[in-house]
Amino acid sequence: MCGIVGYTGPKQAYPVILKGLKRLEYRGYDSSGVALLNNSSLNVYKKKGKVAELEEFLIGKNVEANIGIGHTRWATHGEPSDRNAHPHTSANGKLAMIHNGIIENYAQIKTELVKNGYSFTSDTDTEVLLNFIEYIQTNNSCSLEEALRIALKRVTGAYCILLIEAASPDTIIAARKGSPLVIGIGKGEHFLASDASPIIEYTKEVVYVNDYELAIVKPDELILKNLGNETITPYVTKLDMELSAIEKGGYDHFMLKEIFEQPSTIYDCLRGRLDAAAGTITMAGVQLNIEQLKNANRIMILACGTSWHAGLVAEYIIEELCRIPVEVEYASEFRYRNPIVNPGDVIIAISQSGETADTLVALNKAKEDGAFIFGVVNAVGSSIARISHAGAYTHAGPEIGVASTKAFTGQLAVLMMVALKIAIEKGTITQERYTHLLNELNDVPEKVDAILKNSEELKTIAEAYKDASDFLFLGRGYNFPIALEGALKLKEISYIHAEGYPAAEMKHGPIALVDENLPVVFVATKDSYHEKIVSNMQEIKARRGKIISIITDGDTISPELSNHYFSIPTADELIAPILTVIPLQLLSYYTGVAKGIDVDKPRNLAKSVTVE
Ligand code: G6P
Repeated sequence: MCGIVGYTGPKQAYPVILKGLKRLEYRGYDSSGVALLNNSSLNVYKKKGKVAELEEFLIGKNVEANIGIGHTRWATHGEPSDRNAHPHTSANGKLAMIHNGIIENYAQIKTELVKNGYSFTSDTDTEVLLNFIEYIQTNNSCSLEEALRIALKRVTGAYCILLIEAASPDTIIAARKGSPLVIGIGKGEHFLASDASPIIEYTKEVVYVNDYELAIVKPDELILKNLGNETITPYVTKLDMELSAIEKGGYDHFMLKEIFEQPSTIYDCLRGRLDAAAGTITMAGVQLNIEQLKNANRIMILACGTSWHAGLVAEYIIEELCRIPVEVEYASEFRYRNPIVNPGDVIIAISQSGETADTLVALNKAKEDGAFIFGVVNAVGSSIARISHAGAYTHAGPEIGVASTKAFTGQLAVLMMVALKIAIEKGTITQERYTHLLNELNDVPEKVDAILKNSEELKTIAEAYKDASDFLFLGRGYNFPIALEGALKLKEISYIHAEGYPAAEMKHGPIALVDENLPVVFVATKDSYHEKIVSNMQEIKARRGKIISIITDGDTISPELSNHYFSIPTADELIAPILTVIPLQLLSYYTGVAKGIDVDKPRNLAKSVTVE
């Protein structure tokens, strides 16, 4: 949700910023821009569209500078356009600013500024905040830093901002609340960005800036302060990430690369934790808090999007194995509906990015109410990871394709281990079943590999149905959330309308949609619901719907009912969702590609949604 990059040092700033913006495009790509400061001359360039369009626009322009800031936008206030693109310039032309977030009380501030003679060239809240800073600076004859501090005390909402001023040609001033900011420390240079991907090739030493902190960044100096003007010692961490992790590595798209990485990302997630031979699961976050977890009165799972679907699978698994009541909530709904949270409750927060504003705000609320927060997060060091009392990383590595794939299977693997660990400690699972599930989980990477070897079959199915206007995805039990996820993936990257439904519930409404033009995807592996779902397939077939089924190797009944089917290896029904989702990811991917869609950057979406 908007990517920001800044550089100050001896290098040419523009190439560093441009490359960084390309890496951050997953956060938004409706317009982009840069502000470059060469001595005291400030050049601002911006363009509607993807970063490549900005790059082309800047060919032949003066981009000489050793300091600059750049932005790639996901529109909130004001439509995507050149004029609403960032950076914005203040009325006196001396300040330039980029912003990720939303200033909620912008209207009130704007009214005050208009009364004082200000007019605006864009529809953005960012331009309002910038001119407010300029107004304070001019009226109080104070430094930019001081003006920013005063302004931020008046602001409600979320922000990560980078500011430069013509009068200070080597300094970037940054501030954050609610939107992420990482500062890379080089030799006589500093890099600023929304995540580490623009920084990684220059330095591995980074500082994660916290909420309500301000950074004054010069080539050889980094000063961190709080809004009370007290200096804070920066906490330098070492990045545990390689450049290759954020490059396509020969694949056409990041999404395809990330789908194919799953055997190794799931393996990495299990490695060092699950020891099937010894019959153990080692997870410090669970072990250290086992009393809290096993005695929970209730577990509430908060998440959004694909992570919410992982939560639904976890609900079924935790209730089955641990016998603890589980509720799964959209984080955005939880936040605003005055929920009942008691001190004995455990909240599991699931998030790939660890920065989703809805989830973050909901967690803060639950924490205030005394809940224990367990984070299942992919992005190391992210905000959700940091506000959780304990947690377990998914270790899927950077996920760049906007549609989440490998993070989801990582979430399922972690949640399965957490449930098994609680269940064995609580005594709600037999040793025999525990050992069986441990072995089943251990076999997952190999089975995912086997599924991926047949990916071409899904390409053929995608070609056959790419022109459909609607899809229905049906599943039962542990595979019901996978039907939801299959439908979400298809919507996201092929723009085909799709609905996911519990297969049995289908006859209470969606069945009215079924005719010979409607493809219906059944997630129908061999489990305790199999006979029932076969009956549901009969019901669709009787109405001439087109059946695509995901089935277990050796199933002879489902192929007879299906127009197309895809087989996956046999697995315990609790483990099956980690496998059944893979063909659905591929089906969506190939459909999106067949329709000519930029699957890594589908329209209107962003990967890290840092606004509520
Ligand atoms: C966005 C992304 C989804 C993601 C959701 C939750 O909508 O496009 O792919 O599932 O946010 O994100 P999180 O990072 O919290 O898992």
